[in-house]
Amino acid sequence: MDLDAIRVAARLLEAGQLVGMPTETVYGLAADASHPEAVAAIFAAKGRPSNHPVIVHVARDADLLRWAAEVPVEARQLIDAFWPGPLTLILPRAAGVPAAVTGGQDSVGLRCPSHPVAQALLKEFRQGQGGLAAPSANRFGRVSPTTAQHVIDEFGAPGAGPLAAVLDGGQSEVGIESTIVDLTRLDTLGPVLLRPGRISAAQIEAALGRPLAMPDRAAPRVSGSLDAHYAPATPVALVAAADIDRLVADLRAKGKRVVILRCSGDAHAYAHALYANLRALDREAADLILVEQPPQDAAWQGVNDRLRRAAFDSTGVVERLSG
Ligand code: TXA
Ligand code: MG
Repeated sequence: MDLDAIRVAARLLEAGQLVGMPTETVYGLAADASHPEAVAAIFAAKGRPSNHPVIVHVARDADLLRWAAEVPVEARQLIDAFWPGPLTLILPRAAGVPAAVTGGQDSVGLRCPSHPVAQALLKEFRQGQGGLAAPSANRFGRVSPTTAQHVIDEFGAPGAGPLAAVLDGGQSEVGIESTIVDLTRLDTLGPVLLRPGRISAAQIEAALGRPLAMPDRAAPRVSGSLDAHYAPATPVALVAAADIDRLVADLRAKGKRVVILRCSGDAHAYAHALYANLRALDREAADLILVEQPPQDAAWQGVNDRLRRAAFDSTGVVERLSG
């Protein structure tokens, strides 16, 4: 680990600059969460609507009451079970958390990432007492980055665009964004799963000793829950394994350029490589990315959620290309 680079990045963040930060899920575009102009720069760089809240990343021993008005026992149970790790908790926000971070809502998203570079950066930044606002380091609606090079592909080299620095932490291990659990409506709905991820609904339920509710209309806004999200520029179609070879042959016979993402390995290995694979296939500038539908079991819930969103914009594309 390059400790000098981490120290430099911490000073840049303290000065209100943007830094690409590796995490175990995907790379984040980080800024000082207590600095409204710095957080505003994240939104400008991503082209993201300013009413979307961002997750605040904290060090292992951070005082959560700086960010959250209360830390209910359910939060403690999940923190003990899964932090540091790929789990974000939505809690009632503390007074003084900038509206730029919460998207103007009365909740705040908190996550303690396990990636050693992220942990070292959080320890160095404001002596471990600060928070780093960090959405995924991609332009709004696009595929999340899982390498430092992906971050540079999105925003340009450090100094040449909005980034002051990018820390290289290798390829993100998990590969899809954190599981998000909303704990702001425990009295009415109970704990709510807002976004599936590597930590499964069953693991959360086991740690809490109670079932999770599914998101409802009153759920806080989660940009990752917009239907068109995580999408390559090339149209994406999800196709059952039994149909894919026939469809590929048919489209190629009609002169279409089709690239294929096969389903192989287990769900963790597939998620780890998913975004790098989608980015590589997107670079082929084909007419269509055909994705072989993975199994529907619980282990694949996070992957299937991201694939469904990647394909959302492309409804009807197979029919158009075949027609
Ligand atoms: O794995 C991850 O969570 C990555 C890495 C960088 O930590 N971050 C990430 O951030 O995926 P982003 O902004 O792309 O997605 C985070 C989601 C957003 O959809 C946002 O709306 C939601 O978390 N979120 C953040 N704060 C929230 C809040 N107060 N209430 C509801 N949703 C919130
Ligand atoms: Mg994102």
